[in-house]
Parts: sequence; structure tokens; C-alpha cells
Amino acid sequence: MVREPLSSRAGAPAIDGRVGRAVLVENTAEQFTRFAKERVQQVSPTYAVVAQHVAETPWLLELAAVRRLSRLPELFLASVQFLARQTDDALRPLFEKGITAYRSPGAVTAEFDRFCRGRGPEIGRLVAERAVQTNEPARSIGVLRGLNRAARKLPGRRVHLVELGASAGLQLLPDYYSFELRRPGGHQVVPPQRFLSGLSAPVFTAEVIGPDAGSWMPGPVRIASRRGIDLDPLNCRLAADRLWVESFVWPEQLHRRTMLRRAMDLAAELPVGLRRLDAVAALEQIARQADDVLVVLHSHMIKQLPPGSRAELEELFGRLVAAGKVIRVAVEASAEGKEQPAVGLRSRSAEVSVWTTDGVERVAQLDSHGTWIRPVLSEDEKQ
Ligand SMILES: C[S@@+](CC[C@H](N)C(=O)[O-])C[C@H]1O[C@@H](n2cnc3c(N)ncnc32)[C@H](O)[C@@H]1O
Repeated sequence: MVREPLSSRAGAPAIDGRVGRAVLVENTAEQFTRFAKERVQQVSPTYAVVAQHVAETPWLLELAAVRRLSRLPELFLASVQFLARQTDDALRPLFEKGITAYRSPGAVTAEFDRFCRGRGPEIGRLVAERAVQTNEPARSIGVLRGLNRAARKLPGRRVHLVELGASAGLQLLPDYYSFELRRPGGHQVVPPQRFLSGLSAPVFTAEVIGPDAGSWMPGPVRIASRRGIDLDPLNCRLAADRLWVESFVWPEQLHRRTMLRRAMDLAAELPVGLRRLDAVAALEQIARQADDVLVVLHSHMIKQLPPGSRAELEELFGRLVAAGKVIRVAVEASAEGKEQPAVGLRSRSAEVSVWTTDGVERVAQLDSHGTWIRPVLSEDEKQ
């Protein structure tokens, strides 16, 4: 498969003279420290040790600092995980069993160093050429919320779904997933609306919080067609692509990995059309050819676009939504900071927004791994 080098790809600013190598390496050290202390400390002790080690080790920083990228630690560690597991290296247990597989943190870092010294060029190439492609199906609870809200404007509530930046297409299947919703009044299980015989549906557990927590339940969604667009679509029938998707899961997240595998098993069997295209170029063309109103979803994608493409996409969405050709559903990073004190979890949050000819509504906030959701109901939904 031919992969376009990221130096020419959207969202990958080149390292130029103004920034300078030293500043880039210094920023990379800060990113790894923040990742270790704020992002993974409570959920992955293994990555907390490894990321802090990278932050304090000059030659590893040189290896990682290939480009400016907000999620560089995620991409670097996914690249190491991918290569170690693909080649069944002795480092493999680090990602499958975590630090408990080692005598001491020193033994972990020694093994990590050995691998990175030996495989430096391959690691560097992956970091330079690939994108962060975390395809987290648990965040489909937010997608479902957005699609329910969008569907009320559609004939027969039938959704013709297109996802921009679809990765392996796992956000296109919310009707095949089960959700366990936890709230102060008790737990409910939302069963999948569709099944594939012989395959278990993944079950995603989300804490439901906020003033509307008690009165919200996701409704059924009728997905009449589904398509995904990505610069580098991942095929769940290919072992290498599945491993790449899995490599964004952190070592201690065994349950997350199990559910991800179930979602990938479904995607491998379903006719989810994924196409290798640029989102901005594709949207114009798809909308022009469509007979039906399209629901166009993008989730955790917008920040990967360079500013020019982002502006172009906004302008295009503005026109297509105003013309009634598209309903836009976005699940994208929230401007409101990272922490959600109500659940006591430190996590990045995203907002679910829906644009129709009536304007834009913010319909939920959720954590980027779907562990909690704060629905925001509009007046008509409260009645
Ligand atoms: C972080 S992943 C998100 C995957 C999925 N939407 C989700 O929320 O689970 C972002 C995806 O956007 C894709 N992407 C980035 N820029 C793109 C562009 N200009 N056109 C199409 N896809 C793009 C990347 O290749 C990657 O697969």
C-alpha cells in the first residue's frame, strides 16, 4: 500500500528555521512530561513511566521530535507499540501485560531503550509518515446523540451518513453497539439495534452526568447508508491495519482493547465504504452527487487539518448546511479545558454539535474515550 509522506500531507507543518531544532526538542520534552503526568498517570502506569523516561532522555527526544504535532507522544508510543507487537519483539509484553511483566521500572526503561536504539529509523519513519488515528468506538455514544438530534429533520428519520476522517470507520456503526449508561438513579443497558450473527456486540460503559442526565436516553437511529473518507483509511480485514488501530490503546486498557477488537470484527464484516480522499475535496463532490440530505460527521479530526483547509471546510459546510443539503454533526475537542470535576476524571473532553438550517446546537459534551457524557437537552426535548 502506498502511503503519502506526511511532510506533504495535511496537518503536518514542516520543521522550519524559525522554530529550530532545539525548541522543537524542548517542546517535545514538555509534551511527554504533560502526557505522563496529566493524561496517563491514572489509567496507564506503564505509559506514565515510559513517557517520563522519554521526556528525560535526550537521544529518545531526538528520535521522537520528528515534527510538530499536538499528539506527538500518542503517535510515538503507538509507533513503538506497533513495531514491537508486529515483529513479536521481547518488548511486546510491555504493551500487553504492562510494567508488572518486569522486575523494576529500570528494567522497563532498559528494554525500551534497547528496542528504540535498534529500531530508530523505522520508528522515526512511522512518526513522520503516519497520523494519529485513534478510532475509539466508545465515543459513539456522542455520535448517537448527534445522529438522534439530526434525524428529526430528515424524511422518515433515515440517515445517510458520511464520516470525514473515519480512520477504520468505527464511528459509522453506533447502531451495532451496546451502551451501558450509569447515572445516580441506576444503570441501563441500551442494546444494539442491529446484530451480525456469530459476533458479540461491544458494550461501552458511560457515566451520564449533568442537569439533563436523568431525562436523557439515546433513541434508535435508522442508518440508511454509511460511507467514510480518510487520507489513510484503515481496513479491519488487514492484520497490519488492525494492529495500527490497536496500537493507540494504552497498555493497561485491556477492556478497551477487547471492545475495540469486537468493533473491528463488525467493521470487517459490514459494507462500510471507506475511501482514500481528502475530506475537503471529497465533501464538495459527495454533496453535489447526493440525492438525499446527507448527515456529515467528523469526530476528532478537525485539529489535524492545517488552518487553510479548516477555513475552507467551515466555508463549505456553511454553504451546504444553509442550502439544506447537509446536516453537520461534529464531535470535536471542547474549548472548555480538559477536566470534568463532576466525575473526578482527568480527561480531554469533546463537544457534540449539530448544524441544521435552524442553526447550531450544542447537544452534549463527552470525554474523548467515551467514559462519560453530559447531554444537553433543548427545550423541545424537555417537554
Ligand atoms: C484521530 S482520528 C479520528 C478517527 C475517528 N473519526 C474517531 O473519532 O474515532 C483522525 C482521522 O482523520 C484523518 N484525517 C486527517 N486529515 C484528513 C483529511 N484532510 N482528510 C481526510 N481525513 C483526514 C486521519 O487520517 C485520521 O484517520
